Amino acid sequence: MKLATKLTTLALILLMSWGMLSTSADAVTLEETPLEKAMDKLKDGMKSLKGVLGDATKTDKAMSILQSMEVAAMDSYRFTPDAPAELKGNDLRAYNTGFRKGMLAIAMTVVDMELAVLDGRNADAKKGYQQLSRVKKGGHKKYKPEDEDEHGEH
Ligand code: HEM
Repeated sequence: MKLATKLTTLALILLMSWGMLSTSADAVTLEETPLEKAMDKLKDGMKSLKGVLGDATKTDKAMSILQSMEVAAMDSYRFTPDAPAELKGNDLRAYNTGFRKGMLAIAMTVVDMELAVLDGRNADAKKGYQQLSRVKKGGHKKYKPEDEDEHGEH
C-alpha cells in the first residue's frame, strides 16, 4: 500500500471511531430525562453530605449542598414519572399526587436539615439524612420499580 493510501485509511479509521464515540455520548445525553437529571443532583448532594454533616468547620459547605438539594427536589416535583399504561382517571391522579408528595417530603426534610445545621443540632441533621434515605427508598419502590438493587445511588 502506498503511503498516501495508508494515511487516508488511517484518517478514515480515526474519523469513524471519533464519529462513533461522539454519537454514543450524544445518545447518553439525549436519553437522560429532566427528572433523571434532577435526581442525579439529589444523589450528588447526598454523596457530598457524607463527611460534612456534623463537622462544625464545614457548616457553609453543608448549607450550600443542602440548598442545591432543595432546588433539585423542587425541580423533580415539576416532572411526573411515566405512569403504568393501565392507570387512568383518579388512579393516575393519585399516582402523580403520591409522587409530588414524595418530592415535597424530600424538600421538607432538606429544609429541616438546614435548620438543624444553622442551630448546630448535628444529631438532628444526621437524622434528616437517614430520613432522606428512607423516603427515597419508599419512593423508588413505588415509582421506579425496575430498581430492585439500589447500589451506588447515594
Ligand atoms: C434524596 C432522595 C432521592 C435520591 C438521592 C434519588 C436518586 C435517584 C437517582 C440517582 C435516580 C436515577 C437517575 C438516572 O437514571 O440518571 C432516580 C430516578 C428516579 N427517582 Fe429518585 N431519588 C430520590 C428520591 C425519590 C423519590 C422520593 C421518588 C418518588 C416519590 C423518586 C422517584 C424516582 C423516579 C420515578 C426515577 C426515574 C426517573 C426517570 O426514569 O425519568 N426519587 N432517583
